[in-house]
Amino acid sequence: MASGLLTGKVAFVTGAGSGIGRATCRILARDGAKVIAADRNLQAAQETAQQLGAERAAALEVDVSSTTSVQSAVVAALAMFQQAPSIVVNSAGITRDGYMLKMPEHDYDDVYSVNLKGTFLVTQQFAKAMIEQRLSDCSIVNLSSIVARLNNVGQANYAATKAGVISFTEVASKEFGKFGIRVNCILPGYIDTPMVAVVPEKIKQQVVQRCPLGRLGQPEEIAEVIAFLASQKAAYVNGAAIEVTGGLK
Ligand code: NAI
Repeated sequence: MASGLLTGKVAFVTGAGSGIGRATCRILARDGAKVIAADRNLQAAQETAQQLGAERAAALEVDVSSTTSVQSAVVAALAMFQQAPSIVVNSAGITRDGYMLKMPEHDYDDVYSVNLKGTFLVTQQFAKAMIEQRLSDCSIVNLSSIVARLNNVGQANYAATKAGVISFTEVASKEFGKFGIRVNCILPGYIDTPMVAVVPEKIKQQVVQRCPLGRLGQPEEIAEVIAFLASQKAAYVNGAAIEVTGGLK
């Protein structure tokens, strides 16, 4: 049942074919937004959109690491619901874990290109559209990670990009505040999605033991905080980095 908090808004969600991005599409649509589910995996994005129905959602193929792909996505997004998105969620992300001494350069570059450069490209291009269309009450939410604070061995590439997302978010919040665009990021703990499914069982058990709530998080539990940040309930929240980890430090 839609709460109506986001009625009249269009949301553009990357990484929408899976995990947190897919759950975010569901929750934003529940709250009344029209949702553009964007992913490099078009079929997965289409499944997300189909679950919500054509009136509330549409799917789009985008590679967030490519300038031309993101520029095309802006043009397509504007046409989809005859309105520029005033909510953008940067959920596309990848891991390529490995010890630093053995990490191939392309594993570093790939993680950087999607997680940090991708967040930059999408934010830059969609903020431009928001400003050109003179939209008010805009919100951009970026997905960092608690790994930005835990700095786990084997995650030099991922941890660095997610720490970068926190700094990037803060700069964007300072540059865009005057345009009515709030920019915040979330640091999820370990959330039960395909990304975490590949983490060895032993490590997951250690994480659950260290987590005060004694369990992994659910993607909807991150999506609810994203919906809050997207709404006017968070009208004075800007430049924040919010941990949603069940207390895991
Ligand atoms: P996921 O692996 O379930 O979904 C990621 C989605 O991003 C996939 O649908 C994939 O196709 C898409 N994607 C990958 N590269 C892309 C590209 N270049 N362009 C467009 N789409 C692309 O991951 P999950 O768990 O939903 O994670 C979402 C975000 O939350 C990521 O940024 C991740 O780093 C972050 N995060 C996840 C945590 C977790 O425990 N699952 C914890 C902390 C942060």
